[in-house]
Amino acid sequence: MNIIVGITGGIAAYKAPELVRLLVKDGHDVRCAATEHALQFTTRPTLETVSGHRLYCDLFSSGSTEHISLKDWADLLVVAPATANIIGKVASGIADDALSTLLLAMPPERTIMAPAMNSQMWAHPAVQRNIATLLGWGIRTVGPADGPLACGTSGTGRMSEPEEIARQVRCVATEQVRCVATLLQHTQQPQPAPTTHAPLAGQQWLVTAGPTYERIDSVRFIGNYSSGKMGFALAEALADAGAEVELVTGPTALKTGHPHVHRTDVESAREMYSAATQLFPACTGAILSAAVADYRPSECADHKLKKHGSEGMTLTLVQNPDILATLGTMKRDGQRLVGFALETDNELANAESKLQRKNLDYIVMNSLRDAGAGFGTDTNKVTILGRDGSRNESPLLSKQEVARMIVETVTQ
Ligand code: PMT
Repeated sequence: MNIIVGITGGIAAYKAPELVRLLVKDGHDVRCAATEHALQFTTRPTLETVSGHRLYCDLFSSGSTEHISLKDWADLLVVAPATANIIGKVASGIADDALSTLLLAMPPERTIMAPAMNSQMWAHPAVQRNIATLLGWGIRTVGPADGPLACGTSGTGRMSEPEEIARQVRCVATEQVRCVATLLQHTQQPQPAPTTHAPLAGQQWLVTAGPTYERIDSVRFIGNYSSGKMGFALAEALADAGAEVELVTGPTALKTGHPHVHRTDVESAREMYSAATQLFPACTGAILSAAVADYRPSECADHKLKKHGSEGMTLTLVQNPDILATLGTMKRDGQRLVGFALETDNELANAESKLQRKNLDYIVMNSLRDAGAGFGTDTNKVTILGRDGSRNESPLLSKQEVARMIVETVTQ
């Protein structure tokens, strides 16, 4: 592929040459575009040497339309690091230098950003709103990762390592090969019309399943009792109805054999957030059945924490991002968004409130007061509430039967 690596002015810019080197090693033709501030942290000769091409930094050095010829040349634009500033500029449509102008010229679905900033900046509502805007347009993100930050603190905000960004680029390259193969298939063979047995043919759905684990130290975590059974049954029911399904699952022993279920394994809420927000823009709809931890320890020790005498221990927890609510802000016209509500009291009122608050089309309520429903069981009993005021109740059924009923209801 022809790839442009865009570099903005954050300390992680010093890792950009390594990313360029890895991409070149993978066989890509790579050019670099940098902001002036980026060159405070890395240098023009380094970028030109590793890429083998002249650096694009000045909007007017080779005429005023180089951003258009570069856009036509590139299959992919990877911005690493992407500062809060460049994320905000793109979200607001500002093009005031070479890289931001190129970013606005580039189709969003051909752009990947690897955010990097201080964790409080990353958590700021303005940055989260801007990221949600970019994801909604189809821009993909990698990271940010957790760990020590340049400012001396620790938290979410580190740029993902160059190896991880290169891995994501490999996924995009594989997708493109798959797309071309599918296109060739479609142009070479007349496709059978979808039958009534495949009402979701041509659709792509996202499902989240299972628990999330939030690490305390190298051997302990905060988790929950979700087995993944409900989410796996949903993924298979959607695939049986003809959809291609992206299943993002937390830790589980379950296996999927369905050829149309494509599985991504994650561990923490933030990993699930990253996978789900990247996959959702290309989907017809999403059903989020995962039991996601609302909180995680503010710090994760990289060794086993030791017991100190008979003293107690206090864990400080910080909030995780709400995946469902974020997808609710990203949802485009025509996309369906379905959440779950696991309740123990005021079941219907709580579920109704989540339906409204998170901008859902349907919410599936299951109550831990119903025997045989909820975590770990092979059965469930649900009430499906629709934004249109509809209400469908199931008796106690197998999770496969409940999944079929949910799929029929939310896809009609
Ligand atoms: O996996 P099983 O053992 O088969 O069990 C199935 C189940 C009980 C886990 C499933 O039926 C279920 O109820 N899943 C949702 C559990 C839950 O966490 O509900 P909640 O009310 O806390 O969350 C509401 C919704 O927001 C859910 O769709 C959840 O996926 C989503 N959420 C919650 C928090 C968060 N940070 N991000 C989210 O996306």
